[in-house]
Amino acid sequence: AHPPGPEGPREGGVPGDMPELFSWEFATDPYPAYAWLREHAPVRWTRLPSGVGAWLVTRYADAREALADPRLSKNPVHHADEAGARGKTGIPGERSADLMTHLLNIDPPDHTRLRRLVSKAFTPRRVAQFAPRVGELTDRFIDGFAERGEADLIHEFAFPLPIYAICDLLGVPAEDQDDFRDWAGMMIRHGGGPRGGVARSVKKMRAYLVELIHRKRGDLGDDLISGLIRASDHGEHLTENEAAAMAFILLFAGFETTVNLIGNGMHTLLRHPAQRAELQQALTRGDEALLESAVEELLRFDGPVELATWRYATEALAIGGQSVAAGEPVLVVLAAADRDPDRFGAPDTVDLARRDNQHLGYGHGIHYCLGAPLARLEARTALAALLTRLPDLRLAAEPDELRWRGGLIMRGLRTLPVAFTPEPAAAS
Ligand code: HEM
Repeated sequence: AHPPGPEGPREGGVPGDMPELFSWEFATDPYPAYAWLREHAPVRWTRLPSGVGAWLVTRYADAREALADPRLSKNPVHHADEAGARGKTGIPGERSADLMTHLLNIDPPDHTRLRRLVSKAFTPRRVAQFAPRVGELTDRFIDGFAERGEADLIHEFAFPLPIYAICDLLGVPAEDQDDFRDWAGMMIRHGGGPRGGVARSVKKMRAYLVELIHRKRGDLGDDLISGLIRASDHGEHLTENEAAAMAFILLFAGFETTVNLIGNGMHTLLRHPAQRAELQQALTRGDEALLESAVEELLRFDGPVELATWRYATEALAIGGQSVAAGEPVLVVLAAADRDPDRFGAPDTVDLARRDNQHLGYGHGIHYCLGAPLARLEARTALAALLTRLPDLRLAAEPDELRWRGGLIMRGLRTLPVAFTPEPAAAS
């Protein structure tokens, strides 16, 4: 049934009907299609909506191995399909060579050097010290709608929290942070598409960061950008351009992911009332252990990063017995791997207390999420505050009315309308 041609045999030869990928239904609930792929075609050549072909890897064991395979490069120069590789910075609308060299686009030894330098500045300790500020921001955004009895948790909460948090952490002055919110809003609304607005926002953000780094160099503080400028390893420092690319990737990698972790996580909790009630009771008792495992489980069950970022075979190799030619792109489907019944018991069930939860939501190997401690802090703070301050929070839409963004890499809701008993107005 398949036309002859290089792709024909690879796309054919599987039993049953291949479910349609990238449709509206798929954006709403991709998990049945991923279950089918895991079962029938675990390493599958697929044409993406952009027309570029790539191998989709859906089984946990294959995914974990691929993420750590040094023969799979992150550098788009290894993509054999020139049209597919052209201008691929991984950042929508951005084609500037200066931003090409960020952590998610490079391999060792450059990656090793840059990651070591950034790790000296972006430490777990810095994140831990930031906890009170995340608490303040969380309360401020909830204050914004608590007396109203209804809200859109994406626009009024999940969206502003990470952008203001990362701006604070980086050391973007308060008076400039609203600009970042606007630029980030443009990116999340139109992300992925070659729209002029996104390119303009990225350009403005980058120009601002270059300027800020330049200014801070003469007046170092204790913010993360100053830390990036100060960081040195065996006498090596980040150049100004490298520091700007690093600040940018921190913003970029840490923004929409966190929006969606909070959004998808609350959505899951709202649709699993018994599990959510248990979490609420634990929080009321002051027991934080369940909150910790809950955030990991929400990430496994419906995480923000549906597919890991691009990888390219630098030589002929095999993944799960399927041969992959040099130059072909490989996309590891984290959302599929994290529901693999060969790795997780009852994978389609939410179990907030799940043990042995080695999910791939933050990736694996040398590109493992640098921001995981910050993401965990924000998600725990956000979910705990919503559940304790607004205990009868409920979905204010039918589940099938909710719209998902349907991007390739990220999975997240456009809106999450909720209702709740209003908090009494603060006495003035
Ligand atoms: C890498 C997920 C939040 C910064 C990654 C990767 C994943 C991921 C899957 C690996 C991608 C790959 O191998 O292709 C997430 C999730 C988050 C989150 C689910 C949830 C909220 C953050 C935050 C920051 C951040 C808050 C920073 C402020 C980074 C950076 C990398 C990365 C810099 C690249 C690391 C490298 O290549 O060495 N993240 N991330 N992420 N993440 Fe996160």
